[in-house]
Amino acid sequence: MADSTPGTMVPRRSFVEEGTRQRYELMELAGRLSGVIALGRGDPDLPTPPHVVMAGKQAIAEHGGTVSPLAGLPELRDTIAEKLKVENGIEVEGRDGIVVTTGGQEAVYLAVQALLRPGDEILVPDPRYTSYDVAIAMAGARLALVPTNREDGFQVHASDLERLVTPRTRAVLLISPGNPTAGVLKRQNLEEIREVVIKHNLMVISDEIYEKLLYDGARHVSVASLRGMAERTVTVNGFSKTYCMTGWRLGYLAGPVPVMERAQALKRILSGPPPVISQYAGLAALRGPTAFLDDYLETYRQRRKVVLDGLDGLGFAYGPPMGAFYVFVDASSIGRSAYDLSRSLLLDGKVLIFPGTAFGPRWTDYLRMSWLQPVSELEEALERIRDVLRPSA
Ligand SMILES: Cc1ncc(COP(=O)(O)O)c(C=O)c1O
Repeated sequence: MADSTPGTMVPRRSFVEEGTRQRYELMELAGRLSGVIALGRGDPDLPTPPHVVMAGKQAIAEHGGTVSPLAGLPELRDTIAEKLKVENGIEVEGRDGIVVTTGGQEAVYLAVQALLRPGDEILVPDPRYTSYDVAIAMAGARLALVPTNREDGFQVHASDLERLVTPRTRAVLLISPGNPTAGVLKRQNLEEIREVVIKHNLMVISDEIYEKLLYDGARHVSVASLRGMAERTVTVNGFSKTYCMTGWRLGYLAGPVPVMERAQALKRILSGPPPVISQYAGLAALRGPTAFLDDYLETYRQRRKVVLDGLDGLGFAYGPPMGAFYVFVDASSIGRSAYDLSRSLLLDGKVLIFPGTAFGPRWTDYLRMSWLQPVSELEEALERIRDVLRPSA
């Protein structure tokens, strides 16, 4: 396919349509079977913390009939600005540097549309969350793929970025912790990327939606906290992953005021103001107790161990998942295409896992597994995978 080589311009949505079709076909198939263990999607199975639910309930009663300002409730924007300053080391111009959105998904879309013009190019690490491809295509811009690999934990290297810079390059998109790779970008690499970005006068979109889900001592570094980067970075974040609030549809973008103004102008016609009830719940999430997160992380750590031990037992290689709740598995030892293997695991083993090709056509040997199931289900899923892959006598 035209977009299978790192660095190649991707003019259209061809592979995204195919990757999305494959994913939805597998999900539809899974819906028709009984007893499927789903390790495909990335929506947390743990509950929204009770204090957040309570705040949402109260907001239904007190504010359910009201409409938020377009960029979000002032107190939520102030709280986000404060959180970014204290936790992430990011300085924005108070609430003017924040736009609250209907999910992180809308934040991704608005960031891309606000920064890119038709004909612009943006550098995106491969494999990637393919909503980026669609947003970039809709801006009339093109993406250039930055190669990453399993062997070094899917790091993005400044030298690879710089080789792909052209006079049309306008921005770099970074995501750490990563989806689908679960790689966490190291400070040293980000410092080197920072130099390339400044040298070539680029902007950065930094998707930090998995920032708090970290393992084995991994540290999250916000791009906008690096020297000279606050004015060049649009940070994307949301409540779905950390606070298990996928259904509340709440996210935000943060960055330079002119970019936030452009994002608001688009948001006005796209979705209008973000949901008011969810915003009060989001306020409780940011201001409330954080002990629940230690429990959730412990749960994820246990699940991660079960999954990685299982994969080790099966002889699979993978990039060490240092964040999020995914593992990007190299299944080349099986000798079947990722999609074919995913189908077989579903039909013969009743385990739903996404093929790597849903994250870029180059990843024909890879699978993305999530561990958003209880340990007993994960153990059962691994047992089933073992059975499907066992060579027949
Ligand atoms: C990398 C990344 N960014 C953004 C999102 C959007 O999440 P939401 O719209 O649920 O906030 C997701 C969801 O899976 C994601 O994986």
